[in-house]
Amino acid sequence: MSSQAVRLVVLVSGSGTNLQALLDAVADETYGASVVAVGADRDGVEGLARARRAGVPTFVERVADHPTREDWDRALAAHIAAYRPDLVVCAGFMRILGKPTLEAFPVLNTHPALLPSFPGAHGVRDALSYGVRVTGCTVMLADAGVDTGPIIAQEAVPVLDDDDEAALHERIKSVERHLLVDTVGRMAREGWTVTGRTVRFGRPGG
Ligand code: GAR
Repeated sequence: MSSQAVRLVVLVSGSGTNLQALLDAVADETYGASVVAVGADRDGVEGLARARRAGVPTFVERVADHPTREDWDRALAAHIAAYRPDLVVCAGFMRILGKPTLEAFPVLNTHPALLPSFPGAHGVRDALSYGVRVTGCTVMLADAGVDTGPIIAQEAVPVLDDDDEAALHERIKSVERHLLVDTVGRMAREGWTVTGRTVRFGRPGG
């Protein structure tokens, strides 16, 4: 890992194929980032196993282990802070982050629909039941809302006549992984600025 590399903490809740794409990307030193830890809100998920196989430290903060949601928010933020990230990446993390994390770090999120359509936990199912012919994926900065932060990158994926939720989600994820890796890499190498809802790559004044 280069000492200049942007430090990523990646949060997962499930299979972690987006995390795996990042783990593969950071193996190349020119990528500009390294994954310094992977956190989850549940035990036993494949995302954590992927991190361990890559030799990356992991941690778990379960909501149920804390008396209140605010206590969980604080514990999660403290755990993240211990790894001194420059950027936190939610890669299939199925929880809304609270202020302690959002106010301490820039947070990137990825979503399997073309926001602002179909936010929330069932973006693929909701797009399919609405009957859209084109959906896709969105990489955005996280804010306190549900998938409402400033959009950084989007890519479209056509809906096929015989798609079910699983098939469509798999096709979206194969596009999403590239979009996430490209976006994180550019943010790491070029920096970024946020003006209102507009995110641009490049350093302030650069
Ligand atoms: C991804 O499609 C991600 O966009 C989605 O979960 C999947 C995780 O896949 N996240 C959300 O729906 C958040 N609202 P992965 O575990 O294989 O990376």
